[in-house]
Amino acid sequence: MIPVLDLKAQYANIEQEIDAAIKEILLSGQFILGPAVRELEEKVAAYCECKYGVGVASGTDALRLTLTALGIGPGDEVITTPFTFIATANTISHCGARPVFVDIDPRTYNIDPAAIEAAITERTKAIVPVHLYGQPADMDPIMELAEVHGLYVVEDAAQAIGARYKGRRVGSIGHAGCFSFYPTKNLGAYGDGGMVVTNDAALAEKVDILRRQGGKKKYHAEVLGFNSRLDTLQAAILGVKLKHLDDWNEARRRVAQRYSELLDGLPVTTPYESPDVYHVYHQYTIRAEQRDALAAYLKERGIGTMIYYPVPLHLQRLYADLGYSEGSLPASEAASREVLSLPMYPELTEAQQQEVVQSIREFYGR
Ligand SMILES: Cc1ncc(COP(=O)(O)O)c(C=O)c1O
Repeated sequence: MIPVLDLKAQYANIEQEIDAAIKEILLSGQFILGPAVRELEEKVAAYCECKYGVGVASGTDALRLTLTALGIGPGDEVITTPFTFIATANTISHCGARPVFVDIDPRTYNIDPAAIEAAITERTKAIVPVHLYGQPADMDPIMELAEVHGLYVVEDAAQAIGARYKGRRVGSIGHAGCFSFYPTKNLGAYGDGGMVVTNDAALAEKVDILRRQGGKKKYHAEVLGFNSRLDTLQAAILGVKLKHLDDWNEARRRVAQRYSELLDGLPVTTPYESPDVYHVYHQYTIRAEQRDALAAYLKERGIGTMIYYPVPLHLQRLYADLGYSEGSLPASEAASREVLSLPMYPELTEAQQQEVVQSIREFYGR
């Protein structure tokens, strides 16, 4: 059995550190915000080369609170990619704004900057690029467009903590960066969690107020807020894991390199890595002929795979009334039909990778 992800293998390597950090919080009796959350905010902000970090309940809330803090609301449009997790877009909808989808670069699977300009209208307020699978989107042209048109850029960096674009950490390039600490992420908690990073003090303060029921002072609400704090236990766990993140990301890159070598010559397309980026391989995703049959074949042999994502967002039933149809965004639709993510985690061994690739070879050799 080779699972698509093995969180037990990770815990086995850091068990004592994690258990001690949890115990410390239990003994402190302080479970909501407090020093562990503040410390993690400082550490993650510093890690992302940003001034401020605000811990929230999930990556979804990181996006929602950021968009809310930026004043995005009814009548506004926000440009994003359809080839992503639903939260990238439904947070735009939750603000009352309209997601406007533009197609992806078929090599990187990230939003195609060349397609953005044509989608800008006088209602456009922001662009939300996603750093999919751990590879940064092409941020320079996106930031240039934003500058020219007076738009905000909110990076959905949920899958890419530690990645760099032209030397800069993701999350530090736009007006704000949103991270998810969902357990499967490169920096994953043992439950939900998220963080907003920014260099804008006023924006950080607004997100901070929004996450605590809309008031800086308890029981004094200034704005319509949420209950969306990063859990203190999770912050303590993440503090331990953050120390290992660079090593884990390096290990993921080695796993990716090995896969690409082993898969050479097979009828699959291995991931393209842009020369401008430090890719952190949240996923190792190939394009495969007969994708669904291959996934089923691997499953029979105990090898886990995942499809991120089988239906692009513009074709989700949720967004039927936005007016898109099949053929609207062909690169995203083709990707949804062809992508397959292979087992990927820092602890994956070379022998396991050989087994995965041998099974893929057998499938195409039948
Ligand atoms: C690209 C992307 N955006 C947003 C999210 C939402 O994060 P969360 O699950 O922590 O709410 C995720 C992950 O789940 C994601 O992969």
